[in-house]
Amino acid sequence: VPLESQDRNLTQEILDLLDTKPTLQSSDDFPAISQAEIKAALDRLASRSMVEYQSHDSEQAILTPEAESIVAEGSHEYKVWDAVRQAGKIPIKELPKIVGTDTAKVGQGNAFKNKWVKKDGDSLVLVADEVKDSTRELLRGIQETKTLSDAKVLNDLKKRKLVTVGKVITYTVSKGPKYAKEIPVEVTDLTAEMIASGAWESANFKPYNFNALGASQDAGALHPLMKVRQEFRNIFFSQGFVEMPTSHFVDSGFWNFDALFVPQQHPARDMQDTFFISDPPKADKPRADPDTEATLSAMEAGSRRLFASPDKQSEQTKPRDYEQYWKNIKEVHQEGGFGSRGYRYPWSEDESLRLVLRTHTTAVSTWVLHRLSEDPRPARYFSIDRVFRNETVDATHLAEFHQIEGVIADFGLTLGGLMRFLEDFFAKMGLENLRFKPAYNPYTEPSMEIFGFHKGLNRWLEIGNSGMFRPEMLEPMGLPKDMRVYGFGLSLERPTMMKYGVSNIRELLGHKCDLNWIKAQPAVRLDKD
Ligand code: PHE
Repeated sequence: VPLESQDRNLTQEILDLLDTKPTLQSSDDFPAISQAEIKAALDRLASRSMVEYQSHDSEQAILTPEAESIVAEGSHEYKVWDAVRQAGKIPIKELPKIVGTDTAKVGQGNAFKNKWVKKDGDSLVLVADEVKDSTRELLRGIQETKTLSDAKVLNDLKKRKLVTVGKVITYTVSKGPKYAKEIPVEVTDLTAEMIASGAWESANFKPYNFNALGASQDAGALHPLMKVRQEFRNIFFSQGFVEMPTSHFVDSGFWNFDALFVPQQHPARDMQDTFFISDPPKADKPRADPDTEATLSAMEAGSRRLFASPDKQSEQTKPRDYEQYWKNIKEVHQEGGFGSRGYRYPWSEDESLRLVLRTHTTAVSTWVLHRLSEDPRPARYFSIDRVFRNETVDATHLAEFHQIEGVIADFGLTLGGLMRFLEDFFAKMGLENLRFKPAYNPYTEPSMEIFGFHKGLNRWLEIGNSGMFRPEMLEPMGLPKDMRVYGFGLSLERPTMMKYGVSNIRELLGHKCDLNWIKAQPAVRLDKD
């Protein structure tokens, strides 16, 4: 980026001027150059001690274009007077044609007030043979000095839109200890040759400019959501959680709803809340899928295993039986079973095989828990990924967002344990004093909404949903009766908006998101504010 416009060599001009006079004023000597350009040139010279400068803030009165034309041609009232003087007599309705509408409007009244002209019937005639155009004089004075000491008059001129007042910075510049008529040639690199020849001893090295800003780097940037996601991943990892494979957005109704004991008539499955996929028309029945197994082993190769390693399988190990699982789910909905009365409605296979954009990542948790039933043992799983809901988009809702989800399976878990766990978890992101409110989810009992007190907003905010998965969900999978599973979920967007001060979710995600804003956002830390 060129520092100086129009190929002007400002630094040289400054040095030349200082050769002819001891000090210069940027406002007088360089009236047309922007303050930023002057400052850049001065800094270049000052960093070499070639000049010294002081800056002064001041207010300047500046004429508007209308005022400038008054200085050039006279005030409106003067033009009216002058027109009457030349014609001797002007019919009032002719005046706008002669002097222009605006001038006639403003000028006529003032010319009356000044007793320069008067009415004679329907015409204007002269009163004064000679007049002093004091408005013009006043403005001319302001144009020259850029000031006006009479605050009342100045205010009046501002109101009449003849003068604006702006802040200006003026630099007073004088020679520095190393002043010279030209910037001497400066060496920027110390070379092996200079050392060998000894030239470095007399070389004129260019000084470092520690005030210079670095050039902006054209590099990629992580989205704030991804930065906050990483913080949450770190919290989960620090608590012994393993990440679930959530890379597929489309799932069957079976995994998204039925396996979670969500009845097929549930309003959430309605077109209102769920995006259904029409092509392909339906999913395969749940089955052991070689592609999924391959993805899973690739994932597990680089991190902790999701499930027990094959060589350490316990005695209870039994192969997953998808046929049985399918039958169990049908039974628990339709007739009841596993100690439950069920919902007692005709359960439809087709409904279960409809494809949906997953509405929650709990679909994946369910799949993982079913896998866990192969070798049930205490486990902690989490995921942070996208979910989709057919919602009206507004400042706080999008049709797609990210869910943070955690699942803990163990024997002898209690609701108090879940509350304690959540308190620990949210404390790690700086939220203390949680409150829990009884809630309803088809797949957890009891269920609790989680509230946190937001100091900035000074109110309680719902920050998540949680519960203990129902036996109707866990037992059909083949998990032991005495195994309990906690689950909880929250959105990634809400803490991100709180951390980055975003009030409209559409500025964070979607087509309204400004890429420059993303680039400019700092890293984040989820700790106490
Ligand atoms: N699936 C729930 C939601 O979408 C979150 C949740 C997960 C609740 C697990 C309880 C247990 O809000």
